[in-house]
Amino acid sequence: MSTVGVGGAGGARVQIEGVHKSFTLDGRSAPALIDISLEVQTGELLCLLGPSGCGKSTLLNIVAGFLPPTGGRVLVDGSPITGPGPERGVVFQEYVLFPWLTVAQNIEFGPRLMGVPAARCREITARYLEMVGLSEHATKFPVQLSGGMKQRVAIARALANSPSIVLMDEPFGALDAQTREVMQEELSRIQRVEHKTIVFVTHSIREAVYLADRVVVMTSSPGRIKEVFPIKLPETRNRFAPEFTHYESEITRVVKEEVAKVHE
Ligand SMILES: Nc1ncnc2c1ncn2[C@@H]1O[C@H](COP(=O)(O)OP(=O)(O)OP(=O)(O)O)[C@@H](O)[C@H]1O
Ligand SMILES: [Mg+2]
Repeated sequence: MSTVGVGGAGGARVQIEGVHKSFTLDGRSAPALIDISLEVQTGELLCLLGPSGCGKSTLLNIVAGFLPPTGGRVLVDGSPITGPGPERGVVFQEYVLFPWLTVAQNIEFGPRLMGVPAARCREITARYLEMVGLSEHATKFPVQLSGGMKQRVAIARALANSPSIVLMDEPFGALDAQTREVMQEELSRIQRVEHKTIVFVTHSIREAVYLADRVVVMTSSPGRIKEVFPIKLPETRNRFAPEFTHYESEITRVVKEEVAKVHE
């Protein structure tokens, strides 16, 4: 495993091999995902796009180990997963923070649970508080924070567990447009330091082009992989560059074909 000690950097390889998922509702089985095969490279940031209901969250939950696939398997650094694991961190759209703990205590929660010595916990917490720009808010409670700040805590909390893989399901979906762009810039900066393997679900094509090494577009439900776009742009991206808008319009065209099918 390429997982390094708590508080360290580095990613892991994720292989999604022929994953199928069906859900049974009212005694009838309906497919949600069909034959998903994808390899996410160590340190890669992969964005998943697709119409509502195409199975993005289902796929992320399968990779997280929260849901078993109906067929196929997921491997992390060559080993099949059998459930959730500390090498995979998850950040959801809702800010799932413990309301009775301070910002610092929320970040420290995972390392403490893993039995990391107190002094090291404080070090890790200080590091990630600084990384997400919340050092001055360490003693506040979640209720005192804005949406963007809460999501920064959620990201810091996921990173404090030193996962090699971070799974993010529309993490900036509830934020206003300006805060969202700031958060994208922060994540991109953090990723240049941490080199995690990230699978990032979004509905925003601009967000995907800004963040991703590759963008995967899924078909409408049941979800299959429709097209994969490697984003060959510099690490620091300019949302107004012609190359950026070119990717944006190309991917928009492909996503729209699928969204149109949902409304047929
Ligand atoms: N626990 C479940 N039981 C039954 N059906 C489910 C369950 N979870 C998801 N589904 C179905 O699987 C399909 C994919 O859902 P999923 O939430 O993964 O889509 P999504 O791409 O994340 O959508 P959105 O963009 O709206 O978040 C949908 O048809 C959904 O109704
Ligand atoms: Mg979803």
